[in-house]
Amino acid sequence: MTADMTADMTAEKIALVGAGLIGRAWAVAFARGGCPVALWDPQPGAAQAALDLVPDMLDDLARQDLLSGQAPAEVLARIEARPTLAAVLDGAGYVQESVPEVLETKVEITAEIARLAGPETVIASSTSGFVPSAFTETAPGRERCLVAHPINPPYLLPAVEVVPAPWTAQATVDRACEVLESVGQETVVLRKELDGFVLNRLQAAVLCEAFRLVAEGYVSAADLDRAMAGGLGPRWSFMGPFETIDLNAPQGIRQYVERYEPLCQRLVPDRKVPCDWTAALDAGLEAARRDTLPRDGLGARQAWRDRRLMALAAHKHKAARDIGD
Ligand SMILES: NC(=O)c1ccc[n+]([C@@H]2O[C@H](COP(=O)([O-])OP(=O)(O)OC[C@H]3O[C@@H](n4cnc5c(N)ncnc54)[C@H](O)[C@@H]3O)[C@@H](O)[C@H]2O)c1
Repeated sequence: MTADMTADMTAEKIALVGAGLIGRAWAVAFARGGCPVALWDPQPGAAQAALDLVPDMLDDLARQDLLSGQAPAEVLARIEARPTLAAVLDGAGYVQESVPEVLETKVEITAEIARLAGPETVIASSTSGFVPSAFTETAPGRERCLVAHPINPPYLLPAVEVVPAPWTAQATVDRACEVLESVGQETVVLRKELDGFVLNRLQAAVLCEAFRLVAEGYVSAADLDRAMAGGLGPRWSFMGPFETIDLNAPQGIRQYVERYEPLCQRLVPDRKVPCDWTAALDAGLEAARRDTLPRDGLGARQAWRDRRLMALAAHKHKAARDIGD
């Protein structure tokens, strides 16, 4: 979590449209972060049913010390169910829509929200798969609309993909990021829309290769899972692939590419769109890494990585003992 997650009188008022699995998870994330949350669902009783599940979720979080020292009742008191769409949008500065993943439903509800919401209100959709231009084109004031795609559950997995349509205002993107980051989410901003966004594309690349390796008989599914859970996963759980390779050669990312690009390119001979790694370095990837971490900081950062891995290993042992595998 990146923000100080305590109640704040100036916190944005949040409207949640759709109170299913994701809607109620958002309620916990925003309320924990100090925001007043209003919840609406067209299914009679659904918003109240979602609210009824929240106390147990909050108790679990409190037991793991993940409420920033707040009492569950304090967080719960920030969430209320409202009876109509107009009522839930009343006074809201940020709307998070989490209705079923059906394109026509997204088009209809977005238009309706856009008609009723204030002129400055950010209208974000939780959609997993639709680019925002597919369902916001005809919405009035469409420059207020974008995608904020959570990873379930957002109160434990902080990454949120923020995806603007070509007509989304920069101010909308900025405000969406401010609100999300104020409650501890970590934003991943796409510069232009793309089918699958980023996270699912990365997951798809790993899954395609995982399926191929197992289907062609090179490794068992269990051993492949072990390769991820006991190898790549723990490192990637606190740093991404670029930071990983930057720390895996004494002189950093360029040296890593010099050493390992031939091996890696050889491993994916059937890729349809070849990628020139050195060109990517020259186009700014290396400069970006060196801005974040100067070359003379690599050693200290490697020691930091090892300490983080130790802390993670200790946590995994304790969690396996206390919670089970
Ligand atoms: N489940 C996941 O892991 C996950 C992860 C990220 C994003 N998402 C996305 O979040 C969205 C919601 O998914 P979910 O898993 O919460 O679904 P869900 O079926 O659990 O909940 C959807 C809720 O929306 C309500 N609803 C139906 N029509 C509505 C309308 N017109 N207006 C308002 N509410 C309406 C339903 O009554 C239901 O309570 C989808 O777009 C999904 O792709 C899901």
